[in-house]
Amino acid sequence: MVNTATMLDQKEVEALNDALRDAEPKEILNKLLDRVPNTAISFSGAEDVLLIELCKTHASPPAIFTLDTGRLHPETYRFIERVRDHYNQPIEALFPDSTAVNNLVKYKGLYSFYNNGHEECCEIRKVQPLRTKLAGLDAWITGQRRDQSPTRVEVPVIEIDPTFSTDQHQVIKVNPLANWTSAQVWEYIRMFDVPYNELHDRGYVSIGCEPCTKAIGPNQHEREGRWWWEEATIKECGLHRGNIQENS
Ligand code: ADX
Ligand code: SF4
Repeated sequence: MVNTATMLDQKEVEALNDALRDAEPKEILNKLLDRVPNTAISFSGAEDVLLIELCKTHASPPAIFTLDTGRLHPETYRFIERVRDHYNQPIEALFPDSTAVNNLVKYKGLYSFYNNGHEECCEIRKVQPLRTKLAGLDAWITGQRRDQSPTRVEVPVIEIDPTFSTDQHQVIKVNPLANWTSAQVWEYIRMFDVPYNELHDRGYVSIGCEPCTKAIGPNQHEREGRWWWEEATIKECGLHRGNIQENS
């Protein structure tokens, strides 16, 4: 699907990044929703719930989807339901291709990522469903922050998605929390009584799939609880692969 009406050229993206360099998340969201209305929040079931909170009073809040890998914690599934009720908004669950999952599990088992790396499983369970979804959207909104990971220190507020854009279809990626720290996010969540995933009260900071996420101890970086058997500089699952390509 060609989306010429909402296409942004590199110059406009740079101008928006300049204008929004120190902007608050809400201002970034409002600007994006005005400029590119065909957009949706990519909600992982963690503290990115803040994106939904910040859009709740917008005249036309964006749609919300989650990538249901089939391997999320039960607490995360319960939380997604709580969010759906709390905000009275539909949350679309995107599922992986069943043949691809069947083949992966049949020939490599349920835990192939511990031996072979997480790329193959993430590609099937997250990246492909996202690619299909983004083919029908002009932009997606993520909860990425610069302080989250060594691979995210350069994350811009807005970018032409280097991973999911094609010659025929441009996808804008917006990271409204890029400027905020974890402390700011949590201050907001607590101050405004935003619902949050109960795993956060049990030492989980960054939350992904159950077999690939663990709680962390004092002074550990939040990414140490994700794919802990892998090197920190390659800890991206493909959704945000562009972070590694841009930084390398
Ligand atoms: S990941 O690539 O390492 O898994 P991370 O957990 O840090 O990403 O989350 C960063 C952002 O990616 C989230 O705020 C969300 O926008 C998106 N994201 C990650 N996992 C999912 C998911 N399962 N469903 C929807 N969006 C997700
Ligand atoms: Fe598979 Fe782990 Fe990636 Fe989830 S995070 S899709 S279980 S490799």
